[in-house]
Amino acid sequence: MAQGQQPDAESIPTGEEEDDSLVPLPTREGWWTTFVLYQGCWLTCPAVTSVLLVRDHFAPRHDDVLLATYPKCGTTWLKALAFAVANRSHHPVGGGGGGGVHPLLTSHPQDLVPFIELPFRHLHPLTALDALPSRRLLSTHLPHHLLPPRVDELGCRIVYLCREPKDVVISTWHYMNKVTDDFSLELDEAFDLFVDGVSIYGPIWNHCLGYWNKHVADPDTVLFLKYDDMMADPIKHVKKLAEFLRVPFTDEEVGASVVEEVVRLCSFEKLSRLPVNSSGVADRTGGRPMENSSYFRKGKVGDWKNYLTEEMAKKLDAIIEEKLKGSGLTF
Ligand code: A3P
Repeated sequence: MAQGQQPDAESIPTGEEEDDSLVPLPTREGWWTTFVLYQGCWLTCPAVTSVLLVRDHFAPRHDDVLLATYPKCGTTWLKALAFAVANRSHHPVGGGGGGGVHPLLTSHPQDLVPFIELPFRHLHPLTALDALPSRRLLSTHLPHHLLPPRVDELGCRIVYLCREPKDVVISTWHYMNKVTDDFSLELDEAFDLFVDGVSIYGPIWNHCLGYWNKHVADPDTVLFLKYDDMMADPIKHVKKLAEFLRVPFTDEEVGASVVEEVVRLCSFEKLSRLPVNSSGVADRTGGRPMENSSYFRKGKVGDWKNYLTEEMAKKLDAIIEEKLKGSGLTF
């Protein structure tokens, strides 16, 4: 389907239909729908259709900044932080400075930084992104090798956030339970698929490695962050993020505790309790309304210890170690 082509009124897609043209690709069942292996990445059929449209029609700009994450690695948090940091000249954070009510108090972080591939681009054309003024802050779950080639050609900067894979599988399983009707996958079944590399946008190790390798080759273009490190020292990482976004905090701002205010505004405790994030439903993919609260669960490091057996933890650790061997990336 061409970008923006309108479906018949009677056949408006939910975004979850099978696409016959993708059938020759390897498939796996197990999660909430059939996954297809597209260029080494497990996606749903509508996601592949969307990715193809993004690669063909999305027009990156040299000053775009992309927030890239594997799902459940803290995308919502990163969107909030990057938005707050990048826009603080006209939306001041903390007391004084005017600017009215901060957008993070009235909008879900997911809606302040749009995904390039979502909502599925055969349902919602990319023109919405074209209409955004520069400098755009955009996000993606795509692995580095599936980004539109112009992203690298233009030298667009990327902030990548990853997370300890054991916490990712637990967060993913809880999330899918919450947002998918009749989700019947037991944790051990989800875990087996995950260690097999079969998870949305997975395998997770390829996702991390793609951005890690780009970061190693070109650290000025890719800022590589880890959720656990950010939780341990958010102030340091928010300063780093501001420098990367080319809006470093001034001495005056540091003296006025603006960095601390940004961290507080974007904290799990603050965001998860706001009515805009704790109530209501929104459809951000196309055909799959989800509760706004589903993006906030615990926001803790090491919650996997409450769910995985020692044997499961060792198994996932071993596969991650093997896959990342020699790269310099560790968890
Ligand atoms: P848990 O399920 O472990 O609690 P994503 O935004 O990529 O979907 O990731 C969701 C994970 O990030 C969830 O993890 C969620 O609770 C956590 N999260 C959401 N907002 C956060 C915040 N402001 N600070 C830290 N973690 C946050």
